[in-house]
Amino acid sequence: MRTLKLGPDITLPLDEVIGQCVAILGIRGSGKSNSAGVIFEELLAARYPLSIIDTDGEYFGLKEKHEVLVVGDGENVDVELDAEAASGVAEVSLREGVPVVVDVSGMLSEDRDAFVLEYLSTLWALAGRLRKPYMIGIEECHEFIPQSVRTALKDVVARIALRGRKRGLGTVIISQRSAKVDKDVLTQAGMLFLHRVVHEADMRVYGELLPWRKPEVKEAVAGLGLGECIFLAGQDVRKVQVRKRSTFHGGFTPAFQPVETPKLLQVREEILAAIQRAYEGEDGPPEAERPASRPNRARSQVLRLRTARDEAEGTRAQGGGVAVSHALITEEDDPEMCASVSGPPALRARGNGGQLPEEVLRQKERLVRRLSRRPLHERRMMAFLASREPRAYTTTELAAWIDCAEAALISEPPMDLIELGLLHRERLARGTTYQIRLRPFVSEAFEGFLDELGSDGLHSLVKHMRRALTGLTS
Ligand SMILES: Nc1ncnc2c1ncn2[C@@H]1O[C@H](COP(=O)(O)OP(=O)(O)OP(=O)(O)O)[C@@H](O)[C@H]1O
Ligand SMILES: [Mg+2]
Repeated sequence: MRTLKLGPDITLPLDEVIGQCVAILGIRGSGKSNSAGVIFEELLAARYPLSIIDTDGEYFGLKEKHEVLVVGDGENVDVELDAEAASGVAEVSLREGVPVVVDVSGMLSEDRDAFVLEYLSTLWALAGRLRKPYMIGIEECHEFIPQSVRTALKDVVARIALRGRKRGLGTVIISQRSAKVDKDVLTQAGMLFLHRVVHEADMRVYGELLPWRKPEVKEAVAGLGLGECIFLAGQDVRKVQVRKRSTFHGGFTPAFQPVETPKLLQVREEILAAIQRAYEGEDGPPEAERPASRPNRARSQVLRLRTARDEAEGTRAQGGGVAVSHALITEEDDPEMCASVSGPPALRARGNGGQLPEEVLRQKERLVRRLSRRPLHERRMMAFLASREPRAYTTTELAAWIDCAEAALISEPPMDLIELGLLHRERLARGTTYQIRLRPFVSEAFEGFLDELGSDGLHSLVKHMRRALTGLTS
């Protein structure tokens, strides 16, 4: 029988995981996402289909070893989508068994919740008919199933976690705020990985979940190291060490050295085409099988796939020059690029770029072209800082991150970028620091358009700029 090897002292039969609600709890940095990542790696190796609601853009690295589609809005998505496309992707994932990471890290909370609601409602409705084994991972689940607040989103997440088994749906819920997660769901979880906690409120929750006396709970939990946890499933209660993820963990704790960009697998064209068909209604499921919430979509709304060649032109964020993304762009997004790409038509990603006036996009292109002519070390600085905004970095840190001699950063400071207001420099006791300030910079550069753009437009434009800048290193 297939087993999941999660660590030296923990191996689970795959059968025991089907339809299971697995909860992974612990404080920040205790190893929750790593443990979840290990479970997903093992499920993927067993060809078990799944979706992961990824709030921090941490799971794209699964593509190092597994064919996984990354959709949503974040730095590393293959296909950029908004809530209108959520249902179509969920359908393809469940029907065709395509593993999907739903990266919601770049969405505003309202858009994020709309996306996740649509996505999970579709999975729930369709699973009732298909009844196939399928796992749903949910990061930061206290935001979706908070204790003592009722929302439509909470209803669907709780329903899947509590009643998904009969439909084949299992869940892996992850949270650093044990005390804020809905108690009904936590107490019903059939399998728990309890990493270290320190706060009294979280310790109390552990006390309710573990069949031990309070002092024993406290002692056992306080002594847990990185990646160690108390594993609890029925009568089986023991301390275990989960192994480290074998694929790139996007949520790793930064060390003082440059990060190697992982080599990622490409998503097959058929999968992208299947999503497009589902989205457009061609070959889709019979009308009767479609969830009622699915909106009608206009076939005339056509986008084009962004190709590896566009990546090389540096129009989008992705360090290391690895051709991974097939993100979608609207024709308004970049008229020049659309004219030159002859890939298959794909989904329409609405919002963001689609709503920006053409004149604004042209000005953005001009600005990006100017910035792309800056020396390499400045482009690397912009790319790195744009991906890390709002954090400020000293020249020593920057030199290590962008793989550049610190002496060059000190002897040739990016004066033009500072004068433009794009970079902010400060001399502190720990050294000279740099920080990128995208919003004020964009507001100033597009001052004449601010009324027309409104705050949503400005937000979208800042996101465009961030993407363009993080792609400046190629
Ligand atoms: N079992 C493990 N073995 C080795 N390293 C680990 C292990 N678990 C976690 N780590 C490392 O510890 C760091 C923090 O782990 P992780 O991101 O999983 O924590 P987390 O609990 O999810 O934190 P957060 O609440 O901030 O999301 C990462 O760099 C990760 O690679
Ligand atoms: Mg985490």
